[in-house]
Amino acid sequence: MRTLFKNIKSLVGAYDHPPERLFGSEMKSFACLDNAWLAVEEGVIVDFGSMNSFPGIADWGGLEIVDCDGRYVLPAWCDSHTHMVFAAPRSDEFLSRIQGKTYQEIAEAGGGILNSALALQSMSEDALFEDAMQRLQVAIGFGTGAIEIKSGYGLTQEAELKMLRVIARIKASASIPVRSTFLACHAVPSGNWTSESWTRHMIEDVLPIVKDLNLADYVDAFCEEGYFDVGAVQSLILAARKLELPAKIHVNQFTALSGVKMCVEAGAISVDHLEELTNEDVEALRRSNEDSKKGTIACALPGCSYFLGIPYTPVRQLMKADVPIALASDFNPGSAPSSNMSRVVQLGILKMKMLPLESIAAATINGAAAMGLSDRAGVISRGRAANLLLTRPMEGLESIAYDFGEEPVEKVFIDGVEHRS
Ligand code: NIG
Ligand code: FE
Repeated sequence: MRTLFKNIKSLVGAYDHPPERLFGSEMKSFACLDNAWLAVEEGVIVDFGSMNSFPGIADWGGLEIVDCDGRYVLPAWCDSHTHMVFAAPRSDEFLSRIQGKTYQEIAEAGGGILNSALALQSMSEDALFEDAMQRLQVAIGFGTGAIEIKSGYGLTQEAELKMLRVIARIKASASIPVRSTFLACHAVPSGNWTSESWTRHMIEDVLPIVKDLNLADYVDAFCEEGYFDVGAVQSLILAARKLELPAKIHVNQFTALSGVKMCVEAGAISVDHLEELTNEDVEALRRSNEDSKKGTIACALPGCSYFLGIPYTPVRQLMKADVPIALASDFNPGSAPSSNMSRVVQLGILKMKMLPLESIAAATINGAAAMGLSDRAGVISRGRAANLLLTRPMEGLESIAYDFGEEPVEKVFIDGVEHRS
């Protein structure tokens, strides 16, 4: 199958030799080729260029033409932080929040993550898989072309492994690249557990099994007051590192506990959330990226800020320090019940004052880097899978935020084939 996209208003993220990630000051210069064409064959991007030097069509056989007139073509979104496998929504908690309870108060009363874990423990593996696959189709429909999915709603050895097996099945059957994260320390289960004893159990008993069965690409923990402290999270990161499992860590969502510095020093691939950020945190991230092409990426989750009404990650401050920023959905039933990455990009622009290209780069090339998929996703380049977005006709990329009620994505192509939900 061959497709020619012609008259593209601008081909965004198109590179002959793509970089692996873009640092803060580079993100506004994410490559764009105006008035472009793009050729796809058998699901792979084979060539692109300017319409001014379009070579013409030699072979019309089996060629589909997409006239993009006024529309942009972008790499599909790379969503590097989701909790897509879960048992049930928590809209009752949402109603409590409207009536004045905070996310933390609901969690302390046994709701929140513990609530999700109880429901997940009693749900069958097949049902979890079917539901998550449906959610994945919805996410792809919004334009997601690569995704990370975490465990963390198991909160027993058995249920954590069940979640990871579900993610492995999704990985094997999904049409897009999927990365799996073992969220070992998400909340302290009820009963006799303490954060110390749970962390030890995860490190000593479960992590080796996860590694042996090849069930995860990363480990994660929730470094937060009332959840897991800096020392506990550090011990998990270092134990996982010995097994060659890098870390992506939930940190500074509600409280700055100096976990960012620890994560950076322990070599985390990304630190995620960062709604609360100290100068020390920014400095740690700046230094980690100063002369390293593999420093820690800062991943902001503006859907969570929007939904919980908490501060937005100060990404401009981080970008000024030249830190690479990724944007992800954090899709989960408690703090961000939406997988719509276009909305996330819109919030990046509207609420975090990112320029349109900065926000797009954060949700594509840097999202791919934050889940180790730089060689497969996040840019438009010859030889790459044609996971692409076609926007609706737009004045400029700022329309993603300016026309804030509109869905910017008109069509999604996975391996060159139009996605239909
Ligand atoms: O990233 N903060 C920790 N974990 C999720 C929320 C989990 C939940 O509320 O179910 C997050 O926001
Ligand atoms: Fe999360």
